[in-house]
Amino acid sequence: MNRKITVFGAGFVGSTTAQRLIEKELGDVVMIDIIEGMPQGKALDMMESACLEGFDAKVTGSNNPADCRDSDLIIITSGVARKPGMSRDDLLKTNAEIVGSVCEAIKLHAPNAIVIVVSNPLDVMTYLAGVKLGFPKNRVMGMAGVLDSARFRCFIAMELGVSMRDVDAMVLGGHGDDMVPLVRYATVAGIKVEDLIPKERLDALVTRTRNGGAEIVNLLKTGSAYYAPSSSVVEMARAILHDEKRVLPVAAWCTGQYGIRDMFVGVPVVLGAGGVERIVELELTADELAQLKKSADHVLANVRRLNLS
Ligand code: LAC
Repeated sequence: MNRKITVFGAGFVGSTTAQRLIEKELGDVVMIDIIEGMPQGKALDMMESACLEGFDAKVTGSNNPADCRDSDLIIITSGVARKPGMSRDDLLKTNAEIVGSVCEAIKLHAPNAIVIVVSNPLDVMTYLAGVKLGFPKNRVMGMAGVLDSARFRCFIAMELGVSMRDVDAMVLGGHGDDMVPLVRYATVAGIKVEDLIPKERLDALVTRTRNGGAEIVNLLKTGSAYYAPSSSVVEMARAILHDEKRVLPVAAWCTGQYGIRDMFVGVPVVLGAGGVERIVELELTADELAQLKKSADHVLANVRRLNLS
């Protein structure tokens, strides 16, 4: 029997995620959205592509949150996206209500699921889900580091005119303007990027990475990015469903690692069938640690705005 994956939210991020999941045959997908007919219509459209794309996975649409029943994996994309001039933090109150009600359904109908949060502001929505679900914290996480790292890798590859596949880089911290791209650990085929790109150009690539989401919002004007975000969440989904033990930056529950305690913040983890199986502790410089702390403090300030604890 195929694994069951539920995607809450059938907007651009949710539906593109569902499409990538079924095309890669990672499981059968249920897309749930409050807009009547929309998830059903998108699911049917996707199914009609199956004979052409050559996949056997199934996707269905629903307006009933209970249809997440017994899912192995749940991806939450529900909520509103930001418009030009808005920060991710501006979405806090609206999306907290939406994500909170989605979590109630998950807790009731899919108590054994692993949950990946994608809704913004990412780290705060992941915290909210962690509290509302009450699941073991290894089964709740947020997607952001994979996306921010993919952007950083893309900009490094474009700068050097080399294959994206040969560039490795990791971005830690919250999914906001003070995220922490780790320049020291970025490599091209094992060569440090610091030896390949002059410092002022590297600084510009770091700034572009930090503004990566806003750059797309400003171009689209009516919404935010979805191609790279959906690829990023599917990378995490595959690591979990195939028990790959991938080392990826994920918004994970920290219990003192990097000096962060009782918070979801982007850190490198081993991702497998058990969800976040462990946090990998890299050696960071005092400056990198200070940046990470600043980013975590920003997340904490927003968590407090929710009045959860
Ligand atoms: C981004 C939004 C989705 O970074 O947070 O594109």
